[in-house]
Amino acid sequence: MALLKDHIAVVTGSASGIGRAIAVGYAREGAHVVLLDVNAQAAAEAAKEIRDGGGKATSFGLDVTRRETCFEVAKEIAGKVGQVSILCNNAGINRRNAFTSDPAVSRRSGGGVAMSRVGLLFALAFVGVFTCSSSASYAGSPRLGSSHTSSGTPTS
Ligand SMILES: NC(=O)c1ccc[n+]([C@@H]2O[C@H](COP(=O)([O-])OP(=O)(O)OC[C@H]3O[C@@H](n4cnc5c(N)ncnc54)[C@H](O)[C@@H]3O)[C@@H](O)[C@H]2O)c1
Repeated sequence: MALLKDHIAVVTGSASGIGRAIAVGYAREGAHVVLLDVNAQAAAEAAKEIRDGGGKATSFGLDVTRRETCFEVAKEIAGKVGQVSILCNNAGINRRNAFTSDPAVSRRSGGGVAMSRVGLLFALAFVGVFTCSSSASYAGSPRLGSSHTSSGTPTS
């Protein structure tokens, strides 16, 4: 029997990469997957690919750093798909160099480039994760006992 039958699983940042692979895996185990991504078109294509393969998938465009929109989309999911039972806070950006790796760039921008990246990382890692978790609860998901980040860390 499929491991996630009757589950509704939300995966943020699931238009590509690890999030997309997680969404495909959840769908393979029988969950109805809700793909959320700032790239709405790519999320829709990923959802279609899952449906074409026999799985259940719905997608919405969402920037997880936008608090109000998170709450709106959470309500839309509750109304159109149902009560979320799994939330994977995967959306994020990867840094492949240290903040201070290019002092020349940092000097030219008065440190602005590095600091704006820090701000974005903070927004994604803390605001995005916290807002998605709390908005899912707010939209009425009593089945949602806990949520996870891509690093596997329980967030509630
Ligand atoms: N790839 C790695 O080696 C690695 C290692 C540790 C942790 N991670 C974390 O895993 C997660 C996924 O990594 P990946 O390599 O698959 O990245 P990726 O860039 O391939 O995919 C990230 C997805 O998140 C989406 N996204 C970005 N900002 C968003 C936002 N504000 N709102 C909604 N969606 C947004 C992107 O559009 C993209 O589809 C990230 O949080 C990353 O930090 C990755």
